[in-house]
Amino acid sequence: MAKLLSTFILQMLFAFFTPSLLEIASSDHLSVHPGENITLPCNITNYSEISWYRLRAEEVKLLLSAVKGNLNKQFILSYTVNESHFVVTESSSSVSLVIIGVRETDLGFYYCGGRNDAKHIQFGKLIRLNFTDQHREPDRSDTQQSAP
Ligand SMILES: *[C@@H]1O[C@H](CO)[C@@H](O)[C@H](O)[C@H]1NC(C)=O
Ligand SMILES: *[C@@H]1O[C@H](CO)[C@@H](O)[C@H](O)[C@H]1NC(C)=O
Ligand SMILES: *[C@@H]1O[C@H](CO)[C@@H](O)[C@H](O)[C@H]1NC(C)=O
Ligand SMILES: *[C@@H]1O[C@H](CO)[C@@H](O)[C@H](O)[C@H]1NC(C)=O
Ligand SMILES: *[C@@H]1O[C@H](CO)[C@@H](O)[C@H](O)[C@H]1NC(C)=O
Repeated sequence: MAKLLSTFILQMLFAFFTPSLLEIASSDHLSVHPGENITLPCNITNYSEISWYRLRAEEVKLLLSAVKGNLNKQFILSYTVNESHFVVTESSSSVSLVIIGVRETDLGFYYCGGRNDAKHIQFGKLIRLNFTDQHREPDRSDTQQSAP
């Protein structure tokens, strides 16, 4: 039963995300050195809730969600899959995703989604995250150099 349900959810997700998948060819590309922080901008505005998703190894994962507060209209983090790894920064009435200390498992495609109510959802542009300087072999560059 649970399996059936998850298959159903998966199909729903694919129905939702297929348009995004088609945009992969035209995605923005961001490069980062391993261990650095990077900020991914979201190009949709005027939503009361903004979430960030990662597409990697054919899996879509919700990374975090931020909800606009009623009082000061600032975004407040409502969910994060790892609070020490994914944080947000507000800019231009939207929510940028900040990845702290990018590692190999972070590489992939990212996009944000905005929601005002259950019926109106819009996705932002797709961003491809990869390491800079791919041809350098990480293992070789930090071979032990024993200090005298
Ligand atoms: C990355 O972000 C963390 C948390 O904000 C900060 O402590 C750290 O200094 C930043 N690292 C770099 C290289 O900017
Ligand atoms: C966002 O909302 C404000 C006020 O409701 C409006 O002036 C502005 O044009 C909207 N921006 C976009 C991109 O829809
Ligand atoms: C959360 O992020 C921190 C810092 O990047 C990392 O050390 C830790 O393993 C992560 N936790 C999980 C459950 O992935
Ligand atoms: C990152 O770059 C490497 C080498 O150019 C490529 O093989 C790999 O597919 C890229 N990964 C992503 C997620 O774009
Ligand atoms: C965000 O960027 C994508 C790709 O450039 C574009 O198709 C889309 O219209 C933009 N959305 C908004 C709300 O500007």
